[in-house]
Amino acid sequence: MATDVATQAAVPEVQAFNITLIIRRFLPEIDEEARWESFDVEVYSTDRILDALHRIKWDQDGSLSFRRSCAHGICGSDAMRINGRNRLACKTLIKDLDITQPIYVEAIKGLPLEKDLIVDMEPFFAAYREVKPFLIANSSPEPGKERRQSIEDRERFDDTTKCILCAACTTSCPVFWTDGQYFGPAAIVNAHRFIFDSRDDAGDVRLDILNDKEGVWRCRTTFNCTDACPRGIQVTQAIADVKQAVLRGRA
Ligand code: SF4
Ligand code: FES
Repeated sequence: MATDVATQAAVPEVQAFNITLIIRRFLPEIDEEARWESFDVEVYSTDRILDALHRIKWDQDGSLSFRRSCAHGICGSDAMRINGRNRLACKTLIKDLDITQPIYVEAIKGLPLEKDLIVDMEPFFAAYREVKPFLIANSSPEPGKERRQSIEDRERFDDTTKCILCAACTTSCPVFWTDGQYFGPAAIVNAHRFIFDSRDDAGDVRLDILNDKEGVWRCRTTFNCTDACPRGIQVTQAIADVKQAVLRGRA
């Protein structure tokens, strides 16, 4: 019918084009060290880097290894370096990159490389666990009631609740690259989330932990972490808030 034809004609065509992805590979069974490998792949203007990696894995080389789960910026499992910058592969539209040049993809830095784009996240999660990222309260709410909190008190840590533990911030930090003992931005962000929660009673314990030589004072305020965060968290500001709280208390 005429209406259907008009509706179909209005749907814009999705453009297809070819790109070259140069991926830093490491297969521990055969490689002594990581090496770059080039792949030509056809993609669409709606594709993300994750889609291109899938196409390579499914059509060209099934051994290509990377983590992913939700594909929608929620699970935090596909942080990687894309053209030298930490990003989530599932949130990086290929058409937003310079597609006239090869696109370089490699694992995030500063954590032990396991295979291709997969690193050992255990040191990252060990630092996260050390700051006690859970509510610690000395009293119980009244039976059948929730712990109450004002809107203003909730706003104090609103930004840091958004963390998805992707490690993009910590692995973009030059201090973390040179000193694997540094807690790193993500652990501090998750400490901030509870330090400034009026329902929590262990803020001072966390501030003591972060007042360590490997704690907040290692931060050199380079803002790499804030630039890298796919959730738009003001990571450097959160670290500054914690530094202030160590010096002057949380009030
Ligand atoms: S603060 Fe941002 S970059 Fe860092 S782990 Fe959380 S979501 Fe990822
Ligand atoms: S796959 Fe879940 S955040 Fe990208």
